[in-house]
Amino acid sequence: MVVTKSLLNTPLDTTPNTTITVNGHAVHAHLGEYLVAALNRHADAMKARHVPQVCFLPAMGPIQSCDTCMVKVDGKLVRSCATPVSAGMAVETEGEQVDVAQREAFDRILQNHMLYCTVCDNNNQNCTIHNAVADLDIKHQAREYTPKPYEKDMSNPFYRYDPQQCILCGRCVEACQNVQVNETLTIDWDSAHPRVLWDGGEKIEGSSCVSCGHCVTVCPCNALMEKTMLGHAGYLTNLPGKVLDDMIEVVKGIEPPIGYGPILSLSEMEAEMRNERVKRTKTVCTYCAVGCSFDVWTRDRHILKIEPGHGPANGISTCIKGKFAWGHINADDRLTTPLLRQGDTFVPVSWEKALDVIQEKFTSIKAKHGPDALAFISSSKTTNEESYLMQKLARAVIGTNNVDNCARYCQNPATAGLQRTVGYGGDSGSIADIETAGLVFIIGANPAENHPVLCTRIKRSHKFRGQRLIVADIRKHEMAERADMFIRPNPSTDAVYLTALAKYILDHNLANMAFIEKWVNNFETFHASLKPYTLEYAEQVTGIPAATLITLANEIAAADGVCILFAMGVTQHCGGSETATALSNLLLVTGNYMRPGAGAYPLRGHNNVQGCSDFGSMPNVYSGYQKVDDETIRAKFEADWGVALPTTTGKDNHQMIDAILEGSLKSLYIKGEDTITSDSNANFVGSALSQLEFLIVQDINFSETCAYADLVLPAAASLEKDGTFTSTERRIQRINKAMEPLGESKPDWEIIQLIANRMGGNWKYKHPSDVMDEVARLTPLFAGVNYERLEGYKSLQWPVHADGTDSPLLFTEKFPFPDGKAKFSVIEYMPPSEETGNGVYDLHLNNGRLLEHFEQGSMTSRTPGIREITPNSFVEVSPELAAERNIQSGRFVQLTSPFGRVKVQVVVSDRVQGKQLYMTLNSVEEPVNKLTSSHTDRSTHTPAFKETAVSMTLLPEKGDNPILRKNFRHGTRTPQMGLEIERKWAKPEYHLPGTKPADKLVQIKSITI
Ligand code: SF4
Ligand code: SF4
Ligand code: SF4
Ligand code: FES
Repeated sequence: MVVTKSLLNTPLDTTPNTTITVNGHAVHAHLGEYLVAALNRHADAMKARHVPQVCFLPAMGPIQSCDTCMVKVDGKLVRSCATPVSAGMAVETEGEQVDVAQREAFDRILQNHMLYCTVCDNNNQNCTIHNAVADLDIKHQAREYTPKPYEKDMSNPFYRYDPQQCILCGRCVEACQNVQVNETLTIDWDSAHPRVLWDGGEKIEGSSCVSCGHCVTVCPCNALMEKTMLGHAGYLTNLPGKVLDDMIEVVKGIEPPIGYGPILSLSEMEAEMRNERVKRTKTVCTYCAVGCSFDVWTRDRHILKIEPGHGPANGISTCIKGKFAWGHINADDRLTTPLLRQGDTFVPVSWEKALDVIQEKFTSIKAKHGPDALAFISSSKTTNEESYLMQKLARAVIGTNNVDNCARYCQNPATAGLQRTVGYGGDSGSIADIETAGLVFIIGANPAENHPVLCTRIKRSHKFRGQRLIVADIRKHEMAERADMFIRPNPSTDAVYLTALAKYILDHNLANMAFIEKWVNNFETFHASLKPYTLEYAEQVTGIPAATLITLANEIAAADGVCILFAMGVTQHCGGSETATALSNLLLVTGNYMRPGAGAYPLRGHNNVQGCSDFGSMPNVYSGYQKVDDETIRAKFEADWGVALPTTTGKDNHQMIDAILEGSLKSLYIKGEDTITSDSNANFVGSALSQLEFLIVQDINFSETCAYADLVLPAAASLEKDGTFTSTERRIQRINKAMEPLGESKPDWEIIQLIANRMGGNWKYKHPSDVMDEVARLTPLFAGVNYERLEGYKSLQWPVHADGTDSPLLFTEKFPFPDGKAKFSVIEYMPPSEETGNGVYDLHLNNGRLLEHFEQGSMTSRTPGIREITPNSFVEVSPELAAERNIQSGRFVQLTSPFGRVKVQVVVSDRVQGKQLYMTLNSVEEPVNKLTSSHTDRSTHTPAFKETAVSMTLLPEKGDNPILRKNFRHGTRTPQMGLEIERKWAKPEYHLPGTKPADKLVQIKSITI
């Protein structure tokens, strides 16, 4: 049965368009909305009690498991959470029959859950059961609490399940099956003692659970709880197990005579006291660019939990990293003081001393070699304001445009391809557009692991809304397995079939000519350029049969809105910009811009890789992509900053490395980037960094790159500072300081300001908001951005007009070209740089992230639970290659390229085929970038990480499969369409509460002691 589910990123329309009566009063509501939502709004307006609702969570919609929301509609008892509003309906939320039904339902819940709130870590006022007991004014329960015959499951590193406290509401199942769509959880309704199951069994460890934490977040009680909460949240919860159990027994014993009133009063006092020491701070995830935001609950420096709920990108969602991977914040090896090189070691020094050294070295290098002998690398992990200040330091204080950021390693070809064709290098729309698209086409991206929360929206739309899903990749990742159509082109050939699709669509009158005529320039030249891209040619180059391409072309042409999502599989090639251009051309041919549910979506990698470039840390542009060689724009910045600015474009990251080796670049200041493990061809980069006269590395931990530094500066982590990040959907969001910087570390913006002022900058920023005000003043793209408009969970998607109007959809009235039209751009196909299949280097090496680690794992590896499930990197080898070379999983091999070699363990997997290998990025000791070359995308100098040829030598050591048995990759999902509550309703002992004469007013409200 196909069930239509509400969208997760598109709020339901609740504009009143009908009237119902509630207890005789006229109430405005929206036709078709869930009755409970209308009742809640009415109760809020009247400052009245809500209808009880334990299983209903607006973000997920009705589950219908708890029966506490019973009301009467037109005289009949119904669940208000699942009843759509219809015109003129007469609703009763009061009266004996309703009261009996609600209390009967709640009594059944209390049979499964013991109320020991005062000694429960969940007693922080957001426990749904606790609040419902108070709302219903429950004094006693009629049914006795009945423990289930199961032990607590502590086997997951991050959360535990306590079946004894589980009320079987099924929120967790709904979240896992239909929001995260990991399809791990079910409830065994047919059992005599139902409980939550993982992959159909009782153990969490070894199941397919990806530890996204959705289930824990939505659990209405303490049955599922973050381990970081246990024993830390309450005043009385850190007692030894036996004492705690005794106290629980006492509560159980005194409830019958005294009732819940005094017990709950005590627990509410305790909860109130917790507010004194538990701090809740809204922040944004520091890992990928989906932009999940949430409250972080802290007790001093201890992170109690991450609580999502209001994020515009993520709602209730997180992935394992955002929910649980915060070990880096308090890691033992955090940098807490500046470190100055002395010979082969580093010595701690004061900030004054560090600034003295910087002043002396910057001044002398600039005097001797000129300002262009210095260069600056900004960080896409740090804030927008910090990116802006880094480029201002380079340009206004030092006098060079030598400033760049790590988007050079990944995103710039995407930006270039889109800027050529549609003017802006950002996502065309929002995650809401992706979830509403008729067809999602994922090319060279693995969003299930790299953009997990965004990917859940696709998985849900695909599961419930009939959204078509097509994947093109050389590796069979999760979304390829789920896809309606999966194609595996030869490596580095995407541009060819994309252009052939455009040609086929035009040749067969499937193109959107009305859109092209109205909105796109350069059609004739583009059309003529397509001549060589026949289906036969495409088949020959890509290996995709012509018949498959025809099916694909027809799907794209017929779809009601196409979103193309792409990432490093497109960009990290010599022709990365060309492929990005080709996919944008295809979208223009089919009219898939300027409408909701369509467009190009370069999935940004780091939390702020979008913003770092947006705010000017690039060698050719100031903030908002204003060109440094445009005299009018330069004059504007000169007037505001009161300095003369350099006139020529600076060096990008790649050119900086070459310039060091040539001897023209003497000093490099790297902020928040581990260049040695991030840039391509690590050995080459290392030899360059060793030659610098002065290298500053600023980071939160002592990275591999720090080892090359002359001076290491300790930076504050994201939870220790204020600022903003910009997510992949161009969404600017606030981060807020949850705790003080550790030791003597400082926020990057403060450090940059200290350096600027030592160099005569005379900057006077008191807070990042001052920086943002300056950016808004100088940058049309951000004209209306200020901290007031970003308060709390408010956000803005650029461009932001002066009046604060933002742009969820990027192109509505025009494209940002002089005549308002987009532009077809002729592509030049670039074959791969490193041919494989002959000679010594006979294997193709692909690479990418793992879900549970971010990049090389320098942050995620500092969370013990992540290390516990995935301690090592590995290389995937196809079954056929493994058979040919007699290799089993666990075998150590050496991979060798012309640029270096690494030792790594094998996993035999059919995710890869033939002579293609896939190596994971999560190693700083044996990183894949020791193997990758210095070949780059022709237009942007982004390294061709995905074009690497290697040889593989078997080493004598054999080990176990590096994917540990407890890792979720060994699990077997149990997909179903949701909770399957109908199975509970079908049990002989079940009836709808309040519908049998035997149902009585089971809880006595009036007794007080
Ligand atoms: S994948 Fe695991 S953590 Fe995520 S919702 Fe499912 S059971 Fe919970
Ligand atoms: S574990 Fe699941 S079924 Fe049990 S109370 Fe929590 S959300 Fe409900
Ligand atoms: S890593 Fe990405 S998907 Fe995961 S919680 Fe953070 S922002 Fe969200
Ligand atoms: S809230 Fe309606 S059945 Fe649970």
